[in-house]
Amino acid sequence: MSEFSFQTVPSLTFGEPAADALASMVAGVGARRLMLVTDPGVRGAGLVDPVVAALETSGLTVAVYDDIEADPPEAKVLAAVEAARAFGAEAIVGFGGGSPMDTAKLVALLVRAEQPLSEMYGVAQVDRSRIPGGRLPLFQVPTTAGTGSEVTPIAIVTVGAEIKLGVVDPILYADGAGLDPRLTTGLPPHVTAHTGIDAMVHAIEAYTTKLRKNPLSDSLARQALQLLARGLPRAMEDGSDLSARGDMLLGAMLAGQAFANAPVAAVHALAYPIGALFHVPHGLSNTQVLTPVLRFNAETNPGLYAELADLLVPGQAARAGGSADRAAAFIDFMAQLTADCGVDPRLRAVGISHNDLPKLAEDAMKQTRLLQNNPREMTYEAALAIYSAAL
Ligand SMILES: NC(=O)c1ccc[n+]([C@@H]2O[C@H](COP(=O)([O-])OP(=O)(O)OC[C@H]3O[C@@H](n4cnc5c(N)ncnc54)[C@H](O)[C@@H]3O)[C@@H](O)[C@H]2O)c1
Ligand SMILES: [Fe+2]
Repeated sequence: MSEFSFQTVPSLTFGEPAADALASMVAGVGARRLMLVTDPGVRGAGLVDPVVAALETSGLTVAVYDDIEADPPEAKVLAAVEAARAFGAEAIVGFGGGSPMDTAKLVALLVRAEQPLSEMYGVAQVDRSRIPGGRLPLFQVPTTAGTGSEVTPIAIVTVGAEIKLGVVDPILYADGAGLDPRLTTGLPPHVTAHTGIDAMVHAIEAYTTKLRKNPLSDSLARQALQLLARGLPRAMEDGSDLSARGDMLLGAMLAGQAFANAPVAAVHALAYPIGALFHVPHGLSNTQVLTPVLRFNAETNPGLYAELADLLVPGQAARAGGSADRAAAFIDFMAQLTADCGVDPRLRAVGISHNDLPKLAEDAMKQTRLLQNNPREMTYEAALAIYSAAL
């Protein structure tokens, strides 16, 4: 018998219009003044204003804060906290992709905090005795099918010019999340591809993680991969295909539940410096290092990747036979999916050159929170070789 523990958000809706889901969740905590954290892209796509109008009709006072950028810098997070204090927010809603949802978590946490954000980075560093009154009620509405942030206790912030750090603490689990696939039908194809592959990486890394892998995270990761592998090509073909968008949103959320409990590893560790130094979108940076990291891991630990081949490409897996060949079939499948989505995963395609690789490898090695989960020990030399293969 192996012990494990599992946590997730206490309340979820899928398919209900976001405004209705939010209105009942907010009513449940008795809040009247709501701050909705979003970004200009989401607002510009026309997704925010109808929801705000509906919430106001139901008697709530709503402030929209949209000065959030991708890979939120610390200063933007702190500015949002000030805005929430000035408004007198009683509850916070994250409305958007991972960037607004992560920011919303920290706003809800920091509004009443005496502990500074700079002391909260890392795992379980939040000191509840220094948050008198606790965090504000927090609700999440994802508009990308990617990060799964709506169900994770993680908020990623860009600190200084070039490092991404995470606050990871159960206090960041939202009180509720409303998943409405209609909000994702307008996602541009490249965002669909990047965020969709990010979600698949969450499931792959959760399934193969060294620490805290468990039967629940395994089931969630497998179901997530099946939904995403089925939904992503269809959503790429026709963005308005609601059934494909639904598969993706559900898949991304299940992958989020999986990796919230069985954490991600070297793909994310090597992706973060690319995002921080070169402002490459999170999902694209994951895609850039995905196959080289998987090949590195599968060299010594092919078994679990072989199981994923059995799940996603059973025909090829049966022909391949042994674990190493089945693992290779799975990695080839991910490479082909990336190509089919029209994503160029080469680092040089975003202007990264050979000279940049040592700095990337150096920074990747600082992601110890993630690297400790990798099925194979990562070294500076191995990271450098992986970036070279990704160039
Ligand atoms: N908390 C977690 O568990 C977790 C996990 C993975 C990544 N992250 C973090 O999340 C961030 C990335 O999040 P993301 O990939 O969702 O991207 P994002 O939130 O940065 O959004 C990317 C772009 O898509 C636009 N967009 C979002 N929804 C849209 C819609 N429905 N229609 C049109 N445009 C839309 C946004 O305006 C933005 O320009 C990074 O900071 C990453 O580090 C967090
Ligand atoms: Fe991710």
